[in-house]
Amino acid sequence: MRLPRPRPEVSLLLAMVVFALLLLSRVSPPACPAPERSSEPQEVPTWPPDPPRADPAPCQANLSVASHPDFAALPTHVRDFLLYRHCRDFPLLREPRATKCAQPVFLLLAIKSSPANYGRRQVLRNTWARERQVRGAPLRRLFLVGSDRDPLQARKLNRLLELEARAHGDILQWDFHDSFFNLTLKQVLFLEWQRTRCPNASFVLNGDDDVFAHTDNMVTYLQDRDPDRHLFVGHLIQNVGPIRVPWSKYFVPTLVSADEHYPPYCGGGGFLLSRFTAAALSHAARVLPVFPIDDVFLGMCLRQQGLAPASHNGVRTAGVQAPSPRLSSFDPCFYQSLLLVHRFLPYETLLMWDALSQPQVACGKKGRVY
Ligand SMILES: *[C@@H]1O[C@H](CO)[C@@H](O)[C@H](O)[C@H]1NC(C)=O
Ligand SMILES: *[C@@H]1O[C@H](CO)[C@@H](O)[C@H](O)[C@H]1NC(C)=O
Ligand SMILES: *[C@@H]1O[C@H](CO)[C@@H](O)[C@H](O)[C@H]1NC(C)=O
Repeated sequence: MRLPRPRPEVSLLLAMVVFALLLLSRVSPPACPAPERSSEPQEVPTWPPDPPRADPAPCQANLSVASHPDFAALPTHVRDFLLYRHCRDFPLLREPRATKCAQPVFLLLAIKSSPANYGRRQVLRNTWARERQVRGAPLRRLFLVGSDRDPLQARKLNRLLELEARAHGDILQWDFHDSFFNLTLKQVLFLEWQRTRCPNASFVLNGDDDVFAHTDNMVTYLQDRDPDRHLFVGHLIQNVGPIRVPWSKYFVPTLVSADEHYPPYCGGGGFLLSRFTAAALSHAARVLPVFPIDDVFLGMCLRQQGLAPASHNGVRTAGVQAPSPRLSSFDPCFYQSLLLVHRFLPYETLLMWDALSQPQVACGKKGRVY
């Protein structure tokens, strides 16, 4: 008897089983999915920008002031200021790409912002601080930020600022505590940065992130000016001096400054300056001792250079008084003739920007203030 030949289907099945077994023996148990690798360096090889910098050594406190009999009773932030007053070099953590200032810049918007003020920055990016051309004049935007005092918070916020820098290229950040009494440091470091990295910007708007700036009107105003002559305008403040009451935000004890008078200065909410004046201020800032209130310090720098600040009626850093009881102070008809108003909530900024962007805001007589 012949052995029956295996049927073709059976041999096929057998072959498949053997093949499957072979395959299985080679397949290793499923591994944990590999963590998604951040592909940052590959994707953006030129970021952060190139320059190899030698970071300054951490600045040591000057303890000699601590032996002064008045020192111990001063508020913490004032003591902090005195101990670190001489420190002026801080590592630059982030700066925009060199392309920011590669093309001519007519108006550089340099806006002081604290690390956590993400919402304010986002609104400004979409409203008055949008990078654009106004009647042919290019506007560029920069946020000036320090670092959070709390190290854990700083790590988180630095990550946020890194994301913002990537998405918008508008973050200029240094490694110092972002505090009210360090605003002068921010101002001085910005002037220094601008002197070397963006010296050809014709004009600068320096201000806070809680103002409404009518950047179109600013261009109109500035287009008649010469960037190589002195210009420093804003809300002019004169004949005032240091506040000596310790609970005030602006308290300046005699240990910081014994002078009872401030030179004329412009309110720090927002002011305009030419590149000529920016260079002069940057020079003065290197020779004068740092004064903790940033706008007053700029008044001191102007005086040191033999220059004076000027008043512009369209800059209202002390808030606005509606011109008549029939106009609410939020009326776009009122704002369409102003340059800058302090202070706005983010949603108000969006509303005002939208109202002013309507093709015709129907207003009666326009009380132009510039
Ligand atoms: C430290 O402070 C004293 C006075 O408080 C001053 O004379 C000295 O120059 C300061 N030193 C530095 C390095 O700033
Ligand atoms: C300013 O920043 C420096 C560096 O982070 C810090 O040592 C100093 O305490 C800060 N000063 C104030 C007044 O916050
Ligand atoms: C600024 O302008 C001058 C000439 O006007 C030019 O020589 C210089 O390269 C410019 N600097 C920058 C940083 O663009």
